[in-house]
Amino acid sequence: MDLTYSTYLKLDQLLKLQEPRSSPPEHDETLFIISHQVYELWFKLQLHELDRIKSDFQANRLYDAIATFKRVRTIMKVMVEQVDILETLTPMSFSSFRDRLEHASGFQSSQFREFEFTLGFKRADMLRYQQAGTPAYDMLLRRLREPSVVDCFYDFLAQHGVTIPAELRARDVTLPAVANETVEEGILRLYKTQPDMQILFELMTDFDEGFQEWRYRHIKLVERTIGSKHGTGGSLGVEFLKKSLFLPVFPDLWAIRHQF
Ligand code: HEM
Repeated sequence: MDLTYSTYLKLDQLLKLQEPRSSPPEHDETLFIISHQVYELWFKLQLHELDRIKSDFQANRLYDAIATFKRVRTIMKVMVEQVDILETLTPMSFSSFRDRLEHASGFQSSQFREFEFTLGFKRADMLRYQQAGTPAYDMLLRRLREPSVVDCFYDFLAQHGVTIPAELRARDVTLPAVANETVEEGILRLYKTQPDMQILFELMTDFDEGFQEWRYRHIKLVERTIGSKHGTGGSLGVEFLKKSLFLPVFPDLWAIRHQF
């Protein structure tokens, strides 16, 4: 049989994957399921692209890194905008099927956590929300233990004469990336002398800001939908989520902005 649009995209399988649990059916549960599935697909693509950025950084491919950062930045903007769609869900409508979610929660999104870990935003304690022994858990553990985009960024900067202090070189890669003044001095010099580096740093900052925007929009979505209720994953809900709001992925790029 000739390949078709549908067989290439495996639409038969894909379109069977939306199964509301409410009975009688609650109209909006379909929106809830599809929105989350779409986000998981975006996470999958983002991880694919971040892996490329890591190898571009290591191999000192500046223009490829620029092109891919432009892509992940643009996907991030779409991810932020898409929150609008779920915000058409009213608190009343959500509460009509929320019980059916039981303890299922975004906490358990292994791809979201992979996304954070791959970037350098590592929170090893978040592994406790994953089921040990599953392929998703093993993958997450691998992401925790391997160098992040920030670590590969250091490799890239070193190839452009930036001093990467020994303590950063020898750092425990399972810990979150932290700002470092020596690295910042080097970034500042490149910012001021090399226009192509400036483009890269600005795209990285766009992406970082975009991720913080996503966190903000998610919190507001949660607040308007469940208010001060606890999350299905057992956290305090909004109060818990606020803790990671405004935490940057690339702290060095934010720390230098008053120095121009
Ligand atoms: C009505 C819509 C939504 C509500 C009420 C909601 C609620 C919550 C709450 C309360 C938490 C805190 C953890 C917990 O105790 O469960 C959480 C975490 C999370 N949610 Fe949502 N959420 C919604 C939509 C979404 C969407 C569309 C996504 C897209 C992937 C998402 C992804 C996540 C992720 C990844 C976390 C973990 C965040 C972190 O650890 O920093 N949520 N959500």
